[in-house]
Amino acid sequence: MDSNVRPETMERIATPELAEKFITEQVDEVRRQVGDKKVLLALSGGVDSSVVAALLIKAIGKQLVCVHVNHGLMRKNESENVIEIFRNGLDANLIYIDATDRFLNLLDGVAEPEKKRKIIGKEFIEVFADEARKLEGVSFLAQGTIYPDILESFKQAEGKQAVKSHHNVGGLPDDLAEKFELVEPLKLLYKDEVRVVGRALGLPSAMVDRQPFPGPGLGVRCTGAITRDRLHALREADAILREEFDISGLATKVWQFFVVVPDMKSVGVKDEGRYEGWPAIIRAVNTKDAMTATIEEIPYSVLHKITNRIITEVDGINRVLYDLTPKPTGTIEWE
Ligand code: XMP
Repeated sequence: MDSNVRPETMERIATPELAEKFITEQVDEVRRQVGDKKVLLALSGGVDSSVVAALLIKAIGKQLVCVHVNHGLMRKNESENVIEIFRNGLDANLIYIDATDRFLNLLDGVAEPEKKRKIIGKEFIEVFADEARKLEGVSFLAQGTIYPDILESFKQAEGKQAVKSHHNVGGLPDDLAEKFELVEPLKLLYKDEVRVVGRALGLPSAMVDRQPFPGPGLGVRCTGAITRDRLHALREADAILREEFDISGLATKVWQFFVVVPDMKSVGVKDEGRYEGWPAIIRAVNTKDAMTATIEEIPYSVLHKITNRIITEVDGINRVLYDLTPKPTGTIEWE
């Protein structure tokens, strides 16, 4: 049977007991596949790669080498949290690479969305490949592939077009692809099952219940040509949104929420003088499968508080807007 097809008899992992059973099976399977060799994993801090990391640490401990690439487009404190949880909490063998300048220099002046995505995806692979070539004795590459990724690639193989290029399905350069055998313990699981397994592995809720974050990160929310000052404003405004959603209880209710700062300025006023600034656009959507989405009805009191904090605390932002567009016609991300 094709190992990339989920058997119809496979039970949906919805309870801690089923998760434990899955973990025990996969730990045995990984140990059998890997032996005493080393395994490399690109650990973005997203749900899938984090659960793979936790599972492999349980199975093979320090034989797993995690590489976390900070592309400079992470949300506030995101890389710091990955280091805290994996290096300090789980004692992982973790290499941290701050590649902010590499990415931002390449993106300088690039305004076209697909071009930005391609640059980020390609550079991500290059930074990771540079690191992989430096390491000795690694025979396996672990990936946080999940079943929807496999289904998506079946669809593409049938010639159906994707709306956007998703960077996390990009391939490694040939010299490395040939060198590594893949380890993909989650490849038959749906997202909800990955979360149940992550919880059973003891990962914190902040990581397991994390909302989706696109591979190109804040890069697709700092629309047009990214500048460091606008990216900084976006990151700060986004952190305020998250704090206020946590406080008001919306964080656990809304599927995905974030801020977009487009490449445009409007006239404003501050301290009795002219204050040209960018708008911060709030997006908060609910969906089951991200194919269509509806808008969360955020209470006005919460919107007022967020607006007040953003316009007083974030340099360069003079207006706050709320995006009321469902999908379709708006995609969830702006680029
Ligand atoms: P759109 O914008 O197409 O997004 O409505 C649907 C969902 O996918 C997420 N997204 C990505 N996730 N790599 C990812 O892993 C990507 O390149 C990417 N682009 C969009 C988006 O955040 C939303 O949840």
